Parts: sequence; C-alpha cells; structure tokens
Amino acid sequence: MGMDKPSFLFLLLLSAVALVFAYQTGFAPSSPYPAIEALGLSAFLLICASLLIGPIAVLLPKLGLPLIGPRRSVGLAAFVFALLHGLLALALALGWNLAYIFASTSLFLSSIALLILLAIALTSNDWAEHRLGAGLWKNIQRFNYLAFILVLAHFILQSRGLPYLSASPSGLNLAELALLLLGILTILLQLAGFVTMRRRRAQSEEEKSAAGGASGA
Ligand code: HEM
Repeated sequence: MGMDKPSFLFLLLLSAVALVFAYQTGFAPSSPYPAIEALGLSAFLLICASLLIGPIAVLLPKLGLPLIGPRRSVGLAAFVFALLHGLLALALALGWNLAYIFASTSLFLSSIALLILLAIALTSNDWAEHRLGAGLWKNIQRFNYLAFILVLAHFILQSRGLPYLSASPSGLNLAELALLLLGILTILLQLAGFVTMRRRRAQSEEEKSAAGGASGA
C-alpha cells in the first residue's frame, strides 16, 4: 500500500497551502488583507517547491527524479496563486490604481516577476518547447531564477512579522518565518545542485579524455 511520490508531493503541498491559509486568516498578527497575504505566501511556497525539485533530483535521485514530471504543474500552480494574489492586491489594496506599482520598489519588482512567471507559464508545454527549440526554451526557463530573487525581495519588503527585517513589524509571523527559511533552503540546495552537476560533468570529461588518451597510446 504505497503512495507514489508525485501524489505524495501534491498531498504535502496542498496541506502546506491549507496551513498557510488557516494561520494567515486565523492566527497571524494584525493584517488588513489576510487573503492577499495567504495567496502571496502560498505562491512563494509553490515557487520554492518547483525550484527545489531540480536539486533534489541531482542530490537524491531516488526521491527527486520521479518529481521532475510533476514539476511543471507545481510551477503552473505557483503562477495561478501569484496571479490571484496580484489581482486581489490590485483590487483591494491598490484600488486598481496602477500608478502605485511604479511608486513602490516592491510592487514594481513583483510585477516584473509576475510577467516572467506568465511567460514561463505560457511556454510550459510540449508544443512551445518544440516550436522554440531547446536552447531558447531553456533560456526562458532560466528567468525563473530572476523571478525568484525578485519575489524574495518583494516578500521581505512586504512582510510584517519578521523581526529585524520587516519595516513595520506587527509581532512574529510564523508563516512568514517558515517560508523565509524555505526560501533560504531553496537557494542553498540550488547552489549545491549546481556545484554537484559541475563536478560530475568535469569528472566525466576527465574520464573521457583519460579513455581517449589510453586508446591513443
Ligand atoms: C510574482 C509573484 C508574487 C509573489 C510570489 C508575491 C508574494 C507576496 C508575499 C509573500 C507577500 C507577503 C505576505 C506576508 O508577508 O504576509 C506579498 C505581499 C504583497 N504583495 Fe505580492 N507577490 C507577487 C506579486 C505581486 C504583485 C504583482 C502585486 C501587485 C502589483 C503584489 C502586491 C502585494 C501587496 C500589496 C502585498 C501586501 C499585502 C498586505 O500586506 O496586506 N504582489 N506578496
């Protein structure tokens, strides 16, 4: 009676999102727009999850390789949450006044991030991958890292409950703290995955040239 790994991933993510909404709407210290915040925090959670799958597949292939397939739907879910968050923020917090976006570093950076996520969402299908060619398609996907950094800046600038970091602190917010730690873990695992890949590539090059040298001798 085993659950396959992709199903377990979605169970885990759905539970985490439910927890964020329950905490943010029920227990978080004073917030004027708990729904906007819960959507934003959940979008951040899903972006982290989609960026964690790659390095986990490199470092722990048994666990991570079966999750490469569902990674695309995790990324698309992140976009859906981010879009709803942005729209709700625009409607409730900004009264549809787009000028606010250009008046705030945080909102400006987050809007660029949303456009990047849109471009990635639109090209996250086999048809686009085929039409664009592997090189261009990969380069578009790489903007994910920029989107992540922009979103992290937006998160920290908008946070209310991170001691030493929030501009207008309202008491410790456990959801924000947990997600900030997840963001840091995401950066660390990305770096570890990158270094491991490079080392493996260098090693196989070395083996190849050693084999070539042996056959040439
Ligand atoms: C690109 C994806 C985005 C993500 C992942 C994201 C994520 C977040 C996060 C994590 C927070 C902090 C919530 C908290 O600390 O409780 C936040 C707050 C906020 N975001 Fe975003 N955001 C995104 C895009 C946008 C866009 C495009 C806008 C509007 C132009 C926007 C407007 C806001 C506003 C107004 C807040 C403050 C809400 C409040 O404190 O009541 N966000 N966002």
